[in-house]
Amino acid sequence: MIAGDSGEKARRPGEFADLARRFASQFTWGVATSAYQIEGAAAMDGRGPSIWDEFCARPGAIKDGSSGERACDHYHRMAEDLALISDLGIGAYRFSVSWPRVQPLGAGAWNERGFDFYERLVDGLLERDIAPYLTLYHWDLPLALQAGGGWENRDTALRFVDYAREVSRRLGNRVRSIATHNEPWVVAVLGHEAGIFAPGLKSRRLAMQVAHNLLLSHGLALQALRADGVSTPLGIVLNQGPIHAATNSPEDRAKARLDDGLTIRWYMDALLLGRYPADVVEFLGADAPTVTDEDMRTISQPLDFLGINYYTRNVSGTGEPQKPAEDGRERTDMGWEVFPAGLTELLLRLHDDYPLPPLYIMENGAAYRDQLEAGRVRDEDRVRYLRRHVAALADAIERGVDVRGYFVWSLLDNFEWADGYRKRFGIVYVDYATQQRIPKDSARWYQQLCAAHRHGDTRRVAGEAVL
Ligand code: FCB
Repeated sequence: MIAGDSGEKARRPGEFADLARRFASQFTWGVATSAYQIEGAAAMDGRGPSIWDEFCARPGAIKDGSSGERACDHYHRMAEDLALISDLGIGAYRFSVSWPRVQPLGAGAWNERGFDFYERLVDGLLERDIAPYLTLYHWDLPLALQAGGGWENRDTALRFVDYAREVSRRLGNRVRSIATHNEPWVVAVLGHEAGIFAPGLKSRRLAMQVAHNLLLSHGLALQALRADGVSTPLGIVLNQGPIHAATNSPEDRAKARLDDGLTIRWYMDALLLGRYPADVVEFLGADAPTVTDEDMRTISQPLDFLGINYYTRNVSGTGEPQKPAEDGRERTDMGWEVFPAGLTELLLRLHDDYPLPPLYIMENGAAYRDQLEAGRVRDEDRVRYLRRHVAALADAIERGVDVRGYFVWSLLDNFEWADGYRKRFGIVYVDYATQQRIPKDSARWYQQLCAAHRHGDTRRVAGEAVL
């Protein structure tokens, strides 16, 4: 059993072994990043501009006025960053390919220097025995495609298929899996309805058409890659968390059910059941997207895996939301509630409601106000967050959910979208003035967990061999 969650200072001997033992020997432990958040080198070696470069240039769009222009300068420090993953003994790395780096206009010519970078990245991972997990789209659409309507235009889905095929042709057989999209809900709703992410548009109708076209592009890409003979596992990554009603009133429960429909069922029903949820379609009315039956068959291609990003639950109601500071709940620096039991609840619910492929937690982690003191970051809060979520994941697995891997968001502090560099999610601290990387206490914690799991493996494997 895991020691209580009460923030105990001293580590119990055996803590890591106890936790690691709850995971099968093949279980994958990784760290995640995305291209625009770490690479920098925004105008280098032929990379084209993306919608995020343009969005960041708008006054007021990013809280600290920054952009991903330099970020963690990972483009130039890739070898150092791979060495870091390797020194920490972490067995897997999830990264995304920047579409405008390999195809500057989102159509037509490929940029060889861009592909060179990802070739070196994948080879560098394999040399160090780190399994590469590739994401095709983590939000950085080539700006040229936005001029033609971006994801509102079905043609962008066809451009995405060309891009997916070319990346797979070059890297597909060396990576462990390929995810088409990261968090289509965020792209659709935060980018096209709330307008707080690129491309900064504000229309629900538009957002729902974008959500549909993203899913369509996913299905078309899976069909095309399979027709090309790609045998690498293919899937998609969704952001999800349980939606709880603020009170037991019928109004609040109805609102929570609708929010569940808009964030979870819209994507899960389409991908796994081949239809959109009727209650949500009815609620949307004229804002519902234009859809054909053929589209739904395309979207619901079999998935080899499904990625889930879990950070928190959402509390949904019809009244004025309470101010986070006043509700007494434990929160991270994002204001997101720390709610590990929500991960177990979510996984069990998905398992009950859908015919699931194997799952991966592709992101989980937390931002805190880390302080670098005498060369060390004592991020006890993050250690505690991670420990509790890993235990919550084990609870779900022990109750029958097939989860094959877990990735911490993030390897490095990085460009946190509209929050700029103010929010630090890394298990490795980045001193942006010098670009120095300093593993935080949480990195050491994760290192020990990975090591304990590996050593457990050796025992298990040895035991199996004797039998
Ligand atoms: C997710 C994103 C990731 C990061 C984390 C904190 O929604 O996929 O890029 O910003 O949130």
